[in-house]
Amino acid sequence: MINKQDMMQDIERILVSEDQIHRRIREVGAQIAADYRGRTPILVGVLKGVVPFFAEMAAAIDIPLQEDFMCITSFEGGTASTGKLTFRKDIDHDIEGRDVIILEDIIDSGSTLKMIVELFRARRPASIRICTLLDKPSGRKVELTPDYTCFTIPDAFVVGCGLDYDDYYRNLPFVGVLKPSVYQDR
Ligand code: IMP
Ligand code: MG
Repeated sequence: MINKQDMMQDIERILVSEDQIHRRIREVGAQIAADYRGRTPILVGVLKGVVPFFAEMAAAIDIPLQEDFMCITSFEGGTASTGKLTFRKDIDHDIEGRDVIILEDIIDSGSTLKMIVELFRARRPASIRICTLLDKPSGRKVELTPDYTCFTIPDAFVVGCGLDYDDYYRNLPFVGVLKPSVYQDR
């Protein structure tokens, strides 16, 4: 069982600091605002991992926009995708003719986003782009390239800034590599 004081002891090393995250989100947010000026995109967050990233990124994009969320889980209590995707919540908005920007915490195999993009395409939006906090290109199993990437990271299981292991560690303000001893022998 993980308790709050022990969270830091479970971290092998910090990969992206709190400060780096804030600065980079402001940078990418300004880029998105410039790219979409004159339009009103709809930001779609993929729950639950996207929550802190979504809040900060939405505030950094200083143009009128709408917000929506969907929930798809690809693995539960593990560190590798099972390949079995569970669709839990759809978005509320009709996206026909809209400029959609999907926000995700991390892209690993790419299967989660590929499935969402295919589902959305059938709804005839004007455009779809992907914005991710983290990209782990070494894990890719399907072809998928994000349009906006805050950080590209090596092949390691990371937690913090929304990313979890068994729903824990999401509230760490940085992105850190989880010690393998935490998830081995479980
Ligand atoms: P994909 O479908 O393999 O691209 O996986 C995407 C989802 O897997 C993300 O939304 C995360 O929930 C989860 N995920 C992938 N890598 C990590 C990681 O290093 N730490 C925590 N969650 C991860
Ligand atoms: Mg996720």
